[in-house]
Amino acid sequence: MKIINTIKELKAMLDTCRAKGESIGLVPTMGALHAGHASLVERAVKENDIVVVSIFVNPTQFNDKNDLKNYPRTLEADCAMLEKIGATVAFAPAVEEMYPTEDTRQFSFEPLDTVMEGACRPGHFNGVAQIVSKLFYAVEPHKAYFGEKDFQQLAIIREMVRQLQFNIKIIGCPIVREQDGLAMSSRNTLLSPEERHRALTISRTLFASIEKAKGSSLNETKAFVENEINNTSGLELEYYQIVDGNTLQPVSEWEESDYIVGCIALFCGKIRLIDNIKYKGGE
Ligand code: PAF
Repeated sequence: MKIINTIKELKAMLDTCRAKGESIGLVPTMGALHAGHASLVERAVKENDIVVVSIFVNPTQFNDKNDLKNYPRTLEADCAMLEKIGATVAFAPAVEEMYPTEDTRQFSFEPLDTVMEGACRPGHFNGVAQIVSKLFYAVEPHKAYFGEKDFQQLAIIREMVRQLQFNIKIIGCPIVREQDGLAMSSRNTLLSPEERHRALTISRTLFASIEKAKGSSLNETKAFVENEINNTSGLELEYYQIVDGNTLQPVSEWEESDYIVGCIALFCGKIRLIDNIKYKGGE
């Protein structure tokens, strides 16, 4: 596996591959790779001749300086994992490589970006769109892979591809969970052992809410999740929204949509975690 740090070198290599008719898959990441990322890369390796995994902690998508500073960085271990899975290139640019000048582009993905993460983290999705579009221009992949854990991000990237007319197939991959149910996240490594234990309430509650939903209204199910989280000390709920899986707008009746997903964001101590669960449709 090659480790490449500049867009120039990356493009030169990929031009040669394209000239040979090879297909290119891209897995954008911020590093601190775990089994969730591994599942994206494994799928990309199966479906493409060449797989580029970008490792870049993108400053423009962080609206909290401490979160950016504390974000785990484990480049050596990441590259070892990617090499084992069979990625072709780890693209690990410096900030100045991706942002030689300030990126002043302003995207609008309304109404997808005005709810949930978009409402709680102003500017976050603009930063995601800035970096993902730059990666798409640099790599020009045939397919790009994103995890469904970042459910709203996936919807926004699909919308960005539509708006900017990229000829790239976006592949959403299922959430990978720890054995006990916690959704895999690079941020899990920042949890203390007690916080890690408390964080289990998230997936337990979401799974329990599927059972609850069978005999309850949507609003009762939403209240069930909110109460379970609010009654767990050390967890601070930011939102639990039950939304239409395509428009991401809140729904209030199960009959309102064929595709319904519950999305949660909360603080476990100082660490912000997200997760989601599908109630209906979306195959
Ligand atoms: O999901 C992530 O890790 C990031 O938001 C992404 C897509 C790599 C952009 O920085």
